[in-house]
Order: sequence, then structure tokens, then C-alpha cells
Amino acid sequence: MEFKLIYQPLDRAEADAVAVVVFEEEPAPPELKSAHAWFDELRASAEFTGKTGELSILHQPQKFAAKRLVAAGGGKRAAFDSAALRRAVATSVRALKQKGIKRLAWVLAAGHTAADAEAAVEGAVLGNFEPDAYKTSTKESKPLEEFHLIAAPNGAELEEAVERGRILAEAQNFTRDLANEPANRLTPLLLAERARAMAAEMALECEVLDQDRMRQLGMGALLGVAQGSAEPPALIVVRYKPATPPKTSDHLGLVGKGVTFDTGGVSIKPADGMEKMKYDMSGGAAVLGAMKAIAQLKPAIPVTALVPAVENMVGGRAQRPGDIVTSLAGKTVEVLNTDAEGRLILIDALTYAQRLGCTHLIDAATLTGAIVVALGYVNIGAFTNNEDLLARVMAVAKTEGEKMWHMPLDDDYKELLKSAFADMANIGGRWGGAISAAWFLREFVGETPWVHLDIAGTAWLDDAKPYMAKGPTGVCVRTFAKLAMGW
Ligand code: BES
Ligand code: MN
Ligand code: ZN
Repeated sequence: MEFKLIYQPLDRAEADAVAVVVFEEEPAPPELKSAHAWFDELRASAEFTGKTGELSILHQPQKFAAKRLVAAGGGKRAAFDSAALRRAVATSVRALKQKGIKRLAWVLAAGHTAADAEAAVEGAVLGNFEPDAYKTSTKESKPLEEFHLIAAPNGAELEEAVERGRILAEAQNFTRDLANEPANRLTPLLLAERARAMAAEMALECEVLDQDRMRQLGMGALLGVAQGSAEPPALIVVRYKPATPPKTSDHLGLVGKGVTFDTGGVSIKPADGMEKMKYDMSGGAAVLGAMKAIAQLKPAIPVTALVPAVENMVGGRAQRPGDIVTSLAGKTVEVLNTDAEGRLILIDALTYAQRLGCTHLIDAATLTGAIVVALGYVNIGAFTNNEDLLARVMAVAKTEGEKMWHMPLDDDYKELLKSAFADMANIGGRWGGAISAAWFLREFVGETPWVHLDIAGTAWLDDAKPYMAKGPTGVCVRTFAKLAMGW
């Protein structure tokens, strides 16, 4: 998609459609003055009230160069922030591209900031995404080709914001493409290849640890999960280093769960809905997408992404309930349920991240069904051993419109993981399952500031939203990249 900043009045903008946001309980915005007959009639009919998500289209508007004029509901003005603008633009793109519109212009009303321009571009790129790579005949998407922002000139600031928005949202779509790949087309080694190709294109360092290397190092927890699959595992490491030496010794580590398919292993999952478990590498895809953005936005601190990539399968070599594995950190784990595999691969990656010098750790993982029970499909479950770091992450997430809820991690929950025969068990029972999973990870990060994001409910949309297609969401990509930028 092409982007343009237009420093012209709305009525002169040439496009297939020009959109103006209209708020609830407010008169027509000044931009619609020359179309007031249409607008007054529209309002009087109650067909359009300005509610979030509403769209009304006027064809061949008189006195406008564009072919269509679009009123886009913005809801109540007081609640209309850049996150709402991102969704409003995405909603309009998804509706209008279906009608064959190729060039869409949006008015960035007076008072809008560079952050709003960035969010608007993100909305356009995210709304243009369809997970239809494997449809050969009935492509659903008729993508938008150009997105224009009509704004008041303000030097380079808006240009830069448009570019940032493009970079961030395209990185998010890269993550969505990866998460949507079926497991036959994205094995652990193929995921490593995709990471390598991205790193090469973006001039990042990439190293992939193979099974032999992981054996040498003693990553018994990760390898125990991998042993049931004919597909070998990989530990993907992608590194960004700032061009000028950083002012702090901080080094951000982003760790993402990369289970390319989760059958549950011997503790097998029910057949119903199992196909969705191709998305169990969404955390890994998110940290790779974040690195793609980071490579272009160039934050001031070093960032290392780690993706433990495995396939959790049943088979003659698969690990059994009751097996005891030794993690890279040296602690032993009794595998009471082979379906609690994410935490097993993550602990070895988290330990390795610390050995690589990461001083702050953030992991993203489709870790538990329990977080979906707790928070549904709306909020990410956020856990931490360091309130300051979590507060920073949550502040960034808010501006990115990625909802997060701070979950508890009291010491009282820790005892759930007691094992009779090893240092700890890999499950903590039915109640508080997302919390015991987080505690399991916490046992391996020590005092290193760490945030764990359980994205099992938020990495995938079972039903399309007006602003987003069904399927992978690419959640966390923008928050991670922005966190590094603001460090
Ligand atoms: N990948 C799943 C988490 C998951 C489950 C995501 C359902 C979305 C929907 C994870 O590996 C898993 O299977 N977790 C188990 C843990 C349990 C065995 C303690 C779960 O949540 O059922
Ligand atoms: Mn599982
Ligand atoms: Zn899993």
C-alpha cells in the first residue's frame, strides 16, 4: 500500500473515497459544511448517529473532487483517542475495500497529533490484512492500494509518523502471516528459516541453535517436548544492536513461545478445535515481528529475541506423564501433563536469555486456556516480578490499544507446583491455572526484572471484528517495538 500526506482542503482531495470522522451528539464537522444537506438528512433519519463503527457513504458528492464522501462514526468525542482512531480507520478500510475502493483519504482533523497520524496509518495497514494466502480462486480480499491523510502541514513530523505507522503495522502483519501458517508449512526449522530471511533483509544478526547444540548445553526441558516429533527443534536468536554505544547497560530480551503445533502430546487434546493450535507459536511470531520493526526504528538499547521452536506431538518417542527432565538451569521438572509444554520450552529459553546478557525479560506466550477463562478474548494476562517494568509495559500497551490486565502472583500460589519426585511439577492443578503457569516461569528468572504476557486469548480472533479479520491478531508487536523505542 502507498501512503500520501495531502495538504489540501478536503473537497480538493482526489480519491475513491474521503472519510471524515463524525462524533455522537455533535453537529456536522466543519469539513462537511458543503455537504450539509446530505448530512442533516442523514442525522434526521437516525440512520447514522455517529456511534463507533458506523459508516455512511454519499456518492458523487457535489463540490468534492472525490467520488464518495464517507461519514465514519467516532463515538463520543471524549473517548476518541489514537487507539479509537486506529480502529475507526481499520473499520472503514475493511468495509470500503470490499466495495472495490482502492484509494481512500482520511481527514486528520485539527488538533490531531503525530501519534494520531501514526495510528491512522496503522489502522489502514491492519485493516487491509486478510489471512487468505492459501486461497487460489475465491480471494476474499480486494486490498486498498493507497491511503491518504489530509492534514495541515507541519514539517517532517507527520511524514515521520506515517513512516513509523507503516513500519509497525507491516511488522504486525508479518507476525499475523506467520501465526496463520499451518503446521505442515511452518515446522520449527521453517520458522527458523523465516526468521533468518527477515533478519538478513533487516540487517539483524540471527543464530539458530540446533538439537545437538541444545543437547550440549543441557536444555532438557525444551528437548523433552521436542522428542515426540519427527521435526527437529530450533532455538532462534535474533539480535539488534544500536549503532552508537548505549548510555545504559540495559539489554532487553524478548522471548516468544514457538510451538508450531500443539497436539498436547500423550496428554492429548480433544479433536474439536485442535486445528487452532497452529497458532501456538504466536508469541514467537510476535517477538520476530517486533524485531522487524525494531531493526527499522532503531532504538537506543540492544534487544535480543529468542524463540524456542518445537512441535508438541504424540508418538513412539514422545515424553510421558511422569517423566523427569533437567532444565538448562539445573532444576528438575516432573512432567505431569505433556500438554503444559509451553512453560517447559520457555524456561530453557529464559535461562539462555540471561546467559546472553539480557537484563530485562519479557515473554509472550499462548500459554494457558485458563487465561481465556479469566479474561476472555479481550485482555492479555500480564504477570511480573517487577512492578516498575510492568507499569512501563502497560503504559505503552495502552497507547497501542493492546489491552492488558495485571494478574496476581502471590507467594501463596507457588506451592501449587510442588512435586513429590522432582524440584517442581509442570502443572499446578485446575484452579488458577494461568497463575501457576506464570509462577513456573518465574522460578527461572530469579531477580531479573521480568514480565510474562499470556496471549492465549488475544493472539487469535475466532470471529472477525469490524476492524480486524478473523484469525491471527499480531498482538504485542507494536507494544514491544514501542517499549524498546521509549527505553
Ligand atoms: N497452547 C496451550 C494453551 C491454550 C489452550 C491456548 C487452549 C488456547 C486454548 C497450552 O500449551 C496448553 O495446552 N495448556 C494447558 C495447560 C494445562 C495442561 C495445565 C491448558 O491450558 O489446558
Ligand atoms: Mn499444550
Ligand atoms: Zn501450547
